Amino acid sequence: MRKRIYLNDGWKFSEVYEEKMCYSTFDESQMADVRLPHTCKELPFHYFDEEMYQMVSGYRKWLQAPEDWKGQRVILTFEGAAHESEVFLNGKKMCEHHCGYTAFSVDISDMLNYGGKNLLTVRVDSRESLNIPPFGFVIDYMTYGGIYRDVYIEVLNQNSLEDVFIKPRVRIDKNIDTWIESEVTIHGIDSIVCGMESDSLLRQWIRKKGESEYRFLGQKAVGQAKEILKFSDFRAELWDVESPVLYEVRTELFIDGEIQDALVVTTGFRKAEFRSDGFYLNGRKFKIRGLNRHQSYPYVGYAMPASIQRLDADILKNELGLNAVRTSHYPQSHDFLNRCDELGLLVFTEIPGWQHIGDESWKAQAIENVRDMVLQYRNHISIILWGVRINESGDDDLFYGRTNKVAHGLDDTRPTGGVRAIRKSSLLEDVYTYNDFVHDGKTRGCEKKEEITPDMSKPYLISEYNGHMYPTKAYDCEGKRTEHAIRHANVLDAVAGQPDIAGSFGWCMADYNTHKDFGSGDRVCYHGVLDMFRNPKQAAAVYASQQEKNPVLAISSSMDIGEHPESRWGDVYIFTNADSVRMYKNDRFVHEYKRSDSSWCHLSHGPILINDFIGDWNWGGTSTGFRFEAVKNQKIVKTVMKGPMKRVSLQVWADHYDLKEEHSYDVAAVRIRAVDENGNILNFYNEPVCFEIEGEGSLIGPDMIALQGGMGGTYVKSAGISGKILLKIHSGQAETVCVEFTVNI
Ligand code: GAL
Repeated sequence: MRKRIYLNDGWKFSEVYEEKMCYSTFDESQMADVRLPHTCKELPFHYFDEEMYQMVSGYRKWLQAPEDWKGQRVILTFEGAAHESEVFLNGKKMCEHHCGYTAFSVDISDMLNYGGKNLLTVRVDSRESLNIPPFGFVIDYMTYGGIYRDVYIEVLNQNSLEDVFIKPRVRIDKNIDTWIESEVTIHGIDSIVCGMESDSLLRQWIRKKGESEYRFLGQKAVGQAKEILKFSDFRAELWDVESPVLYEVRTELFIDGEIQDALVVTTGFRKAEFRSDGFYLNGRKFKIRGLNRHQSYPYVGYAMPASIQRLDADILKNELGLNAVRTSHYPQSHDFLNRCDELGLLVFTEIPGWQHIGDESWKAQAIENVRDMVLQYRNHISIILWGVRINESGDDDLFYGRTNKVAHGLDDTRPTGGVRAIRKSSLLEDVYTYNDFVHDGKTRGCEKKEEITPDMSKPYLISEYNGHMYPTKAYDCEGKRTEHAIRHANVLDAVAGQPDIAGSFGWCMADYNTHKDFGSGDRVCYHGVLDMFRNPKQAAAVYASQQEKNPVLAISSSMDIGEHPESRWGDVYIFTNADSVRMYKNDRFVHEYKRSDSSWCHLSHGPILINDFIGDWNWGGTSTGFRFEAVKNQKIVKTVMKGPMKRVSLQVWADHYDLKEEHSYDVAAVRIRAVDENGNILNFYNEPVCFEIEGEGSLIGPDMIALQGGMGGTYVKSAGISGKILLKIHSGQAETVCVEFTVNI
């Protein structure tokens, strides 16, 4: 039976690859000890040159191959190595791969020294001069290098399951019918079919995730390398953004009554349809509300383990209240996608690339990337759309005819899209996906479908808006941060008001490091509604207040008039999902604002402008304090107090405190905010914060940072030893905060 062994530990690394590294005689004492996920270069937070991570680096690992693997298939898989890799085993080249964002596998059975040691060497080229996507021109994001995702070996029988594509089907009319189709690819079919006396079978089972017992679906005799299975005799609960019910389908291969292999695929039953008049999920018209996500983090770029990848999905769904994400501009970690499946977060995923289309060999690689993306990701039920164009490239009918054909050929359950920035361009895809940057604060929030798409009978989706139209830092002046938030509200509202637009993805989830041609000169694009550590800017509240689950109440101002020109209040907004908000000034009731007071009439929870402060600021008198109470179903669900600050303290959260080493090291994301005694972020507290760490772990990044806009963070990494980690966080006048973590190996 299939066994998986992770190879994330015990690697040696050098920033300079040498051919001699492939041989056992090479002296590796000068190489660094590293664990995967690994970045070829740790980087500063900002102000660094993208040349720093461009290199041809070398990785080496010794591998013991037990005697009992002999005669089986041993498959080595790299989930992600950026950007070109060559793999050698015991001095012999095994394979090469030319994409930093897709996985690759190679059968190493014939080259292994069973019962002894084996030397694995990987040459990883992270230079941006490579003639593969996304390279060739400028790119608005950094393309960090290294073996930055998991590496593992699978040991399989000669007769085994090569691939199982589960296609959960749903028909909705008066009743809801569910059935399941699968495409099962079998390895070793020749020997199975030639030895006709053998009796080979595929069996399938299903269970709801979390249940202990599988239910038998059915079986089919094996006659060819690819078998189609179809079983309809069961009723599944639907997967939806509200209740993402998952199922596990177990496929088994039997020969002469003996099980050879089994593979479990997690799936869900949902009907996702892009129609000319919008998007429908399980028959219900539904507005997609998402953000674009880059898979990058401070210091280590792409190299973060499972828990941190998953955290981003949680933040998008639970903190920002979104129902969708676009994995701009490349396929992202399966850990992130698994969490999207679990949370009910819809995903638009796409091939790597940015505006530029290269020569024929470059295009051939892009076609390969479509194939790999679809084959590797098609079992994720959260994915509703394949992006098969290079982001914002021009038309190229021949090329895009091929990318569409490949995607459709490998997956008949999902439509294709392809992000462009041009109107009425050649539409070979099923959905016209367009970056609509028309809104500049004054102009309308979005264009009409008929102004953009050449074919009104096909669906239309907005894949980006805002971003570079209004870069905003967490420490910008209040007026600017408010304008940023309001621009997001303007576009969301305009999209909500256009029934034939399927939805929209804002640019973008979090600030990100970028190339010299973009950003603010410090190699950062401040386009996020979150900062790089995933702390919220004001615009985050616009998104968070669109969901119904958790009460949201945020006031756009600190209520300090001196922050505004001419010491005027400026426009102050309430962001809330409550029924109403009561405002008090120095405990005297001023006004109760209702949902209907919002002038963003298409949103269920538009921002509400405060239009009555009862007089001017009370200079010299007792200090002025404001209290806001969010009321839902006649109950106060949230209170916000604003007044002159008296005391600074640090609010510190880790996403988890129990680090577990499963396939590799674990990392906890620690978010830090300087707040006043009422919990309001102190947006101009750009002070140093020092970290002290003790115990069985280390920090990723420096032990001293400056908060930006009163916010910052760090990452705590386990070190392969069980025990405790103590993190102390000091900042000026604020009391020291101690955070304790446990590590379990
Ligand atoms: C788009 C591009 C994104 C990002 C964004 C900034 O044109 O697709 O990658 O650069 O602009 O607003």
